[in-house]
Amino acid sequence: MVTQPLTPASAAVHAGRDDLGGSHVPTIDLSSTYPMASIEAGGAAYETMAVGGRPRPGDPLVYQRLWNPNVDRFEQAVAVLEQCAEAVAFASGMAAVSATLLATVAAGRPHVVAVRPLYGGTDHLLATGLLGSKVSWAAPADIGRHLRPDTGLVIIETPGNPSLDLVDIAAVAAAAGDVPVLVDNTFATPVLQQPARFGATLVLNSATKFIGGHGDLLGGVVATTPEWAARLRAIRAITGGLLAPTSAYQLHRGLQTLPVRVHAQTSTAAALADWLGAHPAVATVHYPGAPGCDPLGLVGRQMSRPGAILAIEVRGGYAAAARVAAACRLVTHAVSLGGVDTLLCHPAALTHRPVAPEARPSAALLRISVGLEALTDLQADLDQALATA
Ligand SMILES: Cc1ncc(COP(=O)(O)O)c(C=O)c1O
Repeated sequence: MVTQPLTPASAAVHAGRDDLGGSHVPTIDLSSTYPMASIEAGGAAYETMAVGGRPRPGDPLVYQRLWNPNVDRFEQAVAVLEQCAEAVAFASGMAAVSATLLATVAAGRPHVVAVRPLYGGTDHLLATGLLGSKVSWAAPADIGRHLRPDTGLVIIETPGNPSLDLVDIAAVAAAAGDVPVLVDNTFATPVLQQPARFGATLVLNSATKFIGGHGDLLGGVVATTPEWAARLRAIRAITGGLLAPTSAYQLHRGLQTLPVRVHAQTSTAAALADWLGAHPAVATVHYPGAPGCDPLGLVGRQMSRPGAILAIEVRGGYAAAARVAAACRLVTHAVSLGGVDTLLCHPAALTHRPVAPEARPSAALLRISVGLEALTDLQADLDQALATA
């Protein structure tokens, strides 16, 4: 067992891997149920886990919806990387958002202050009030004015999906006072940004994206305080949004290469953003490292590098954007992001389709998640696609 404090790159490789029981990699525990020595032992363990507590050594785990060892290992590793005490993993990013909203509603503080842009699914969930929450949309500088006695949560994304807007987390946390702030860290990942360092109480990642990194699973995870973790685990046990053990194993493995992938993809994205900025078919580039996109100087201060996602607005509006999307060959025209291959999508028509018209992204906007391909190959493909614009 390693006892020295590890740098993030080493922690990504080793965290959550203490006590592997003689194996080099974690074994996958697929049990849906667990034998119990006695009714009393099972009942006591159930009581502990149903309210979000950890089982004690030797306790029967009772049932997978209450506890799974691979999920636990993945959560421990995420908590280390996000510099939080604990983490709670879910079946998808939206299951994680839902559990957080349910915890807020259950605590009798259903009002949420949210800063747009947000991922279209999160925006939709808040706008419909499906889970009993009530939303006020606010500009970052206006958060304080929207707080009410029943406000239970402030939600932001930075960089925001899909136009990469940056939000000053420390300023939001100061404005929120004792209201917990949730930062969706999916675009930055814990490699480039640790929102808890700036005052976020809850840090959410759609693990489907960079953490998994290969486009072959869904998952979500919230890194947070022990108190919030217990509340979220209790809600997960009741509502059933547990991450599958095989996905937890894959995500835990994904964390090991997350730093190298994110840094390599960021380097390519930065070069591609420069090149796209000079392309005649492109009217605007949205990228935290591009001129004019970081007015508050947050790159380098809050987020170490500008990340691997960018967006462009093509000249010629929706019709031109549709032609570019259809013409991509090496780049895949598909929703989602954060994988090893480059994906391009049209948020207004797809990921942000349910968003209210006044908050929907521009019809000329295409979001690009930059993968691990060579810059020159991506330029060649995007050049021929942009020629159709
Ligand atoms: C920023 C962000 N948050 C949350 C989600 C939802 O995650 P999932 O698709 O894993 O439910 C997404 C999905 O695209 C996202 O981009």
